[in-house]
Amino acid sequence: MPAIVLVGAQWGDEGKGKATDLLADRVRWVVRYQGGNNAGHTVVLPDGQDYALHLIPSGILTPGITNVIGNGVVIDPGVLLDELSGLEERGVDTDRLLISADAHLIMPYHVAIDKVTERYLGAKRIGTTGRGIGPCYQDKIARVGVRVQDLLDEKILRQKVEAALEFKNQVLVKVYNRKGLDVDEVTDTVLEQGERFAHRIADTRLELNRALERGETVLLEGSQGTLLDVDHGTYPFVTSSNPTSGGASAGSGIGPGRISTVLGIVKAYTTRVGSGPFPTELLDESGEDLRKSGGEFGVTTGRSRRTGWFDAVIGRYAARVNGITDYFLTKLDVLSGLERIPVCVAYEVDGFRTEDMPMTQTEVHHAVPIYEELPGWAEDISGCRSFADLPANARAYVERLEELMGARISAIGVGPGREQTIVRHEFA
Ligand code: IMP
Repeated sequence: MPAIVLVGAQWGDEGKGKATDLLADRVRWVVRYQGGNNAGHTVVLPDGQDYALHLIPSGILTPGITNVIGNGVVIDPGVLLDELSGLEERGVDTDRLLISADAHLIMPYHVAIDKVTERYLGAKRIGTTGRGIGPCYQDKIARVGVRVQDLLDEKILRQKVEAALEFKNQVLVKVYNRKGLDVDEVTDTVLEQGERFAHRIADTRLELNRALERGETVLLEGSQGTLLDVDHGTYPFVTSSNPTSGGASAGSGIGPGRISTVLGIVKAYTTRVGSGPFPTELLDESGEDLRKSGGEFGVTTGRSRRTGWFDAVIGRYAARVNGITDYFLTKLDVLSGLERIPVCVAYEVDGFRTEDMPMTQTEVHHAVPIYEELPGWAEDISGCRSFADLPANARAYVERLEELMGARISAIGVGPGREQTIVRHEFA
């Protein structure tokens, strides 16, 4: 039985939680494979109230699903414990959460460095979430990171923190004029935190491969999105991991051959948070209207999201780099009431038309969208449950996007509720 990858096709915040909901009764395992508590999505708990999850896979709310924080994730232990106790206080059973022994830990010095670096960069800042994500991945690649398994060996942990702080404190104090951190204080804090989740630490790659061998379905849940990928995104305005589908194998230990479906989540228009190029961005009233009607404010940072029209160059690119087999189009209802809906079909870059993502970042910065205008629809579509229920112009919009992106749109979101989804094709 297969592994399914769920990946954001734009700059994140495409509404991936909706797709997880749709698949929940078909999967036994939900795995996060990259990123950390820079991600965020709101879920509705059994008590009817909203809860924001940042680190724990959304399958935690479905009985019978085992959730895994994979080796590719970076974990802030304090955030993990807060999220767990927040869920437990509200009656959610958190027993079925496993944490990879190989995942890296976000240490207090990573958070401190993320914040001071951004401040230092001023106008050139990336607009990070300030959660220590980049500095933690830097240490991972530099082979000086602290891993979850180090929490099981106090001596090793203390040595690693000591070695890290010898250098980081110099940077904090001498470059950024901040206070250094104390080795014992940092070590004791994370040790105490680690004790509280030690029983969850596991060889998750072994567990996941065994589950696949038993015929159980595994959902690999990407956070952020394709254009925030450190390799395939709008570098340097990206996150420090690989949200694209290739990252799912590396970040979980599941071989690529096991993956049968790559579900791309794409919003019916475009948003991004933080800095960086955004060719179809709307800086006028229509951008503000999209922000309001789509509720485009970040779950993690509360920042308002930049908004723009649908960009098919990006949709096509995401289909290609992720090997998307099916698209899930979210928030189609937000476009209801518009007379005409512009869709970017290509870019003009320095006088030339291109239908593909330009090769260099300079060209992406220069890209001017070429729009095609599609007729809108006035009807409220939030009650539609089949493709045939949609107004003709909404159907034509979906079909045109499908044609432009080169992958079929198998599901469509028409509202925030679990049941507000139209399934056009079975995909998993
Ligand atoms: P970092 O991941 O905190 O290092 O931030 C790097 C970039 O990724 C910034 O532009 C963030 O706004 C963006 N980013 C990180 N996580 C998310 C997310 O979950 N949704 C949307 N943007 C994100």
